[in-house]
Amino acid sequence: MQPSYAPMRVVLFASGRGSNARTIIEMAIQQPMSLKVVALITNKGSAPVVQVAENYGIPSYIVPVRRQETGRATRLEHEGRIHEVLKKYDWEYICLAGYMRIFTPDFVEAYPHPDFPVSRIINIHPSMLPAFKGSSAYDDAFDYGVKVSGITVHFVSPGVDEGVIIAQESFERLPNDDLTQFKARGLSVEHRLYPNVLLSLSRGDFVTQSEPFSIFLTPSS
Ligand code: GRF
Repeated sequence: MQPSYAPMRVVLFASGRGSNARTIIEMAIQQPMSLKVVALITNKGSAPVVQVAENYGIPSYIVPVRRQETGRATRLEHEGRIHEVLKKYDWEYICLAGYMRIFTPDFVEAYPHPDFPVSRIINIHPSMLPAFKGSSAYDDAFDYGVKVSGITVHFVSPGVDEGVIIAQESFERLPNDDLTQFKARGLSVEHRLYPNVLLSLSRGDFVTQSEPFSIFLTPSS
């Protein structure tokens, strides 16, 4: 997608604590020839991720939802303001890292991948999709009593948590785990997986003629 001598340019979207955003930014600092974070967009000005971006000198844009309704007009108006921010930058991928809003299909379809039938939007989801879709995946998997769960990095499609899977990595729920320990184990996988997936994507590692983007990472990789 990008010339091999230029870093892959990503815009981060996040709404919360920003631990995934931080690991991606740190990967970009370590691998400046491969990855560049050009901006952060958030819907929540009070989110700690804004400070994370500032600490690393990444420009951040707060694009709040102005009205409380969740109707289509409100969503499109909000996304219209996001499109305006995105126009300021030359970017290849949007990376969602705990962005707590669902895009309209219009938004997703506005950013098609130039080479494959996916969007240019990537998300990390804390379950082994297609299990435990939705915003409380850790809690749902834990409450269900899974012995093994996982982390998924996938392209965003108009269906929520349904896009083409780029990478998955499993982690165990140990017999004495409480929810906090279970989440912490998953989060440490997230922090390794997401930046490494982006690094691999920047190098074209996932792209084969027969099976674009499919890969299964084991903890040792
Ligand atoms: C992560 O668990 C991510 O998988 C989910 O939201 C959480 C964001 O955490 N989508 P953080 O803000 O990156 O710390």
